[in-house]
Amino acid sequence: MPFPETRLRRLRKNDQIRAMVRETRLTMDDLIAPIFIKSGEGVRDPIKSMPGLFQFSPDTAVEEVYSLQKCGVQSVLLFGLPDHKDDTGAVSYDENGIIQRSIRGIKKDIKNMSIIADLCFCEYTSHGHCGVIVDNDVDNDLTLVETGKQAVSLAEAGADMIAPSGMMDGMVAAIRTGLDENGFKDQIIMSYSAKYASSFYGPFRDAADCAPQFGDRRTYQMDPANSDEALREVELDLEEGADIVMVKPALAYLDIIRRIKDNFNVPLAAYNVSGEYSMIKKAAEAGVIDGERVMLESVQAIKRAGADMIITYFAKDLAPILK
Ligand code: PBG
Repeated sequence: MPFPETRLRRLRKNDQIRAMVRETRLTMDDLIAPIFIKSGEGVRDPIKSMPGLFQFSPDTAVEEVYSLQKCGVQSVLLFGLPDHKDDTGAVSYDENGIIQRSIRGIKKDIKNMSIIADLCFCEYTSHGHCGVIVDNDVDNDLTLVETGKQAVSLAEAGADMIAPSGMMDGMVAAIRTGLDENGFKDQIIMSYSAKYASSFYGPFRDAADCAPQFGDRRTYQMDPANSDEALREVELDLEEGADIVMVKPALAYLDIIRRIKDNFNVPLAAYNVSGEYSMIKKAAEAGVIDGERVMLESVQAIKRAGADMIITYFAKDLAPILK
């Protein structure tokens, strides 16, 4: 029925009625908090490009995870900044590597927290690319061999989930095979299936010290102009054994999130990346927006678009609002 019988404003009358008809509910269960860890002790270094965030050492990381848990966060995503890097990123599968030690430390002291380990090489290679370089480009199949090793090492350390972010073809299959052959058939794989070659990663490259030393990532990460291709990436990852698929970044890619949700009935994650975080923080600092409201509106939009879970640097800031 048209106006005047139908008046949509009736259902916007007050807080109670708006709450009753609200279609999207963001909760702390939806959120995953990223953490940056480097070596040392007692470290809590502010990240200049990301106001309000810090780099931790394995001991202070445990404290941070505990404080996140008190806020209601149930899952963290770990990124490691190793002391030394090499050509192939072999330190990434050292059993005493920064992430392996951190996972064991968190698991020892904290119960009921899911640890997701990001699996990539850009933080571990001297050239800052996400794999083994041959002729100035990342060699896909040589990188897969290293990928399998890193996956097994992270699983052995006690990670609950492995999240490969390198955008190599066949990456999920290589990980699934490596895990299964080593007794980790129940290990969950959350694949960065549709990861775009995005300039929104700028602040992260400073936080994780992983900017490529030459060229860029456009021969492996996706072209921001493409959408059908994201569906192909997701389909292949699911065939190879991914349990959860991901779209990254989130806010400039809400259409991709929605298309994947409509086309596949699988758990879908979205990564609300560093640039999306810092733009809001910096604009709020400058007094041009209400940071808290813009944060809530943005993360809610990612869920409304179809994400079942959201990796976000805002997890702690959202806690008092969502509780
Ligand atoms: C590394 C990686 C990146 C991010 C997560 N894992 C950077 C990149 O691909 O250059 C970005 C996360 C963010 O910007 O918050 N493969």
